[in-house]
Amino acid sequence: MTYISHLAIAVVLGLLLHRLYSAHKAGQLQRLLHIPDVKFDHDDNQAHYISSTKEILHKGYIKYNKKGQAFRIRNPVDEGSPQVIMSKTYLDEVKNAGEDLLSFPLYSIQSFLLRLSGSILPSLPASHITRIDLNKNLGELAPVMKDECVETFKAMIPPCEDWTTLKPWDTFLPTVARITGRVLVGPELCRNPEWIGLTIQNTQGIMKHAMGIRAIYPKMWQWLAPWTYPGRHELPALRKRAAELLEPVFLERVNAKPGNEKRRDAIQWLIDGSGGKPITPKEVSDSLLFLFMAGIHSTSATIVSIVYDLIAHPEIVSELIQEIKSVQAESPEWSKNSLGKLRKMDSFMKESQRLHPVGLVTVQRCTVRPHTFSDGLHVPANTFMMFPTYEFTHDPETYPDPDKFDAWRFYRMREAGDPTKFHFATVSNDSTNFGAGFHACPGRFFVAHELKIILSELLLNYDLKFVQGTDRPQDGHHDFTVIPCTQTELLIRRKHGV
Ligand code: HEM
Repeated sequence: MTYISHLAIAVVLGLLLHRLYSAHKAGQLQRLLHIPDVKFDHDDNQAHYISSTKEILHKGYIKYNKKGQAFRIRNPVDEGSPQVIMSKTYLDEVKNAGEDLLSFPLYSIQSFLLRLSGSILPSLPASHITRIDLNKNLGELAPVMKDECVETFKAMIPPCEDWTTLKPWDTFLPTVARITGRVLVGPELCRNPEWIGLTIQNTQGIMKHAMGIRAIYPKMWQWLAPWTYPGRHELPALRKRAAELLEPVFLERVNAKPGNEKRRDAIQWLIDGSGGKPITPKEVSDSLLFLFMAGIHSTSATIVSIVYDLIAHPEIVSELIQEIKSVQAESPEWSKNSLGKLRKMDSFMKESQRLHPVGLVTVQRCTVRPHTFSDGLHVPANTFMMFPTYEFTHDPETYPDPDKFDAWRFYRMREAGDPTKFHFATVSNDSTNFGAGFHACPGRFFVAHELKIILSELLLNYDLKFVQGTDRPQDGHHDFTVIPCTQTELLIRRKHGV
C-alpha cells in the first residue's frame, strides 16, 4: 500500500472515531437530561464554572437539593461528563452501595486520568492498613509524632527571639510531610529531603499531568497519551526513584531475623499485609506514594487554615493553652487518652475545617453500571456523582448562624447532646468533610492527633500575629478545590521564658 492509501485509511478511521465519540458524548448527556441542569444566569462559560463553583453549587442546593432532588452541572474540565450533585436524601443509599455499583477508586482514576499519565493508582492495601493498623497503633505513635514535631520545628522555624516573618504554607507543608512520614516510613526516609520532595512532586504531578493531557488532547484522543504525551515519563520516573530510595529499608525489613521486634510503620504493615505473597519495593513505594498523596496536602491546608483562624480569634488562645496545660498536668506524655481530652481544641479544629475545608464536595463516586435509586432517580453507567459538603455544613437548619466562626460550637454540641458525636474525626450525614461510608477517610483519627500535637507545640512555645494591617487571608477557589492562601507571611516570636 502506498503512503497516500495509509493516510486515507487513517483519515477515515479518525472521522469514524470522531462520529462514534460525538454520538457517545451526546448519548451520555441525553441519558442525564431528566436531571435538572443548573447554569449561571450570566457568563455561563467554562471559566466561570472553575472560578465560581461555590456559587453554582449554592444555587442548585437551594433550588433542588433542599427539596430532596439531585441536579447536574457542567464539568468544566471534562465536557462530556456532567457531574450530578446529590441531595442528602441519597447519602445512606450511596454509603450502602457496593464497589461494583458506585466506585470511589474509579472516580479518582477517571477524573485524574490516572491510567493515562503513568500515575500510581488508588491502593487498596494502603487504605486497608490505614483503616486497621494505623488506627490500632495511634496511641503508641503519639509520643513519636510529638518528638518528630519538635525536631521539625527546630529545622523549619527560624530563631525568633523577636518578631520574625514566616510563610505558613512553606513551613507546614514540610512539617506535615515529616511527621506523617515518620509514622508511614520511619526515621530513615521521613527526613530524607529527596523522599519528601518526591512525595510532594508526585501529588502535584498527578494534577499537573491530568491538566496537561486535557490541554493537548480532546477527550476522544486521550487514549493516545501513554505513547505520545510529552510529559508521559515524569510520573513513572518519579515512582522508580521512590522505589530505589525505599529498597534498602525494604530489604532490611524482609531480611530481619524472626523474633526481632517489628517496626510500627506503613512499610512493615504493607509487607506483613501481603500475607507471605512476594511483594516488591515498587509495590510498597506505590502504596506509600498513594498515602502521601491522600494525606499531605489535605492536612497541610487544614493546619494552615487553623493557624489563620487562631490568629484571627486571639480571644480563644488563652482557653486553648489552659486546656493543654491542665491535660498535660495529669499526663505529660501525649497518648490517645490525653489527646482525646483536648475537647475545646477539637471543637476549634472542626469549626475551622467547617468554614475552610479543602473541598466543596466529597463522597465522589462513579457509577460502574446503570442504577435506579429507591425514589426512581436513574443514573447511567459512568456518571460522576458527589455531595455538596460545603452546603451541608453551611445550612442554617443544621448549623445556626453558619457563617459565624464559633470556636466552641462543637464543644457545646458535645456537652448538650451526645458526647461521643461531633468530634473533629466524626463523620455523619451532617458532617461529610472526611467523606462517608466505607471509603470515609481512614486517616482522619491520625489527622486529629497530628493537628493537636502541632497546635499544642505552637501554642505553648510561640506567639503568632498577622503582619500589621492585614486581615485573615482569603481562601483560593479552583473548581471544587479550596486552598488557604499559600503566599501570606506571618510574624512569629518564641514565647519568653519557654
Ligand atoms: C485533613 C486532612 C484530610 C482530609 C480532609 C481527608 C479527606 C478525605 C476524603 C474526603 C476522602 C474520601 C472519602 C469518601 O469519598 O467517602 C479521603 C479518603 C482517603 N484518605 Fe483522607 N483526608 C485527610 C488526610 C488523610 C491522611 C493523613 C491519610 C493517611 C495517613 C488519609 C488517607 C486516606 C485514604 C487511604 C483514603 C481512601 C479511602 C478509601 O478509598 O477507602 N487521609 N480522605
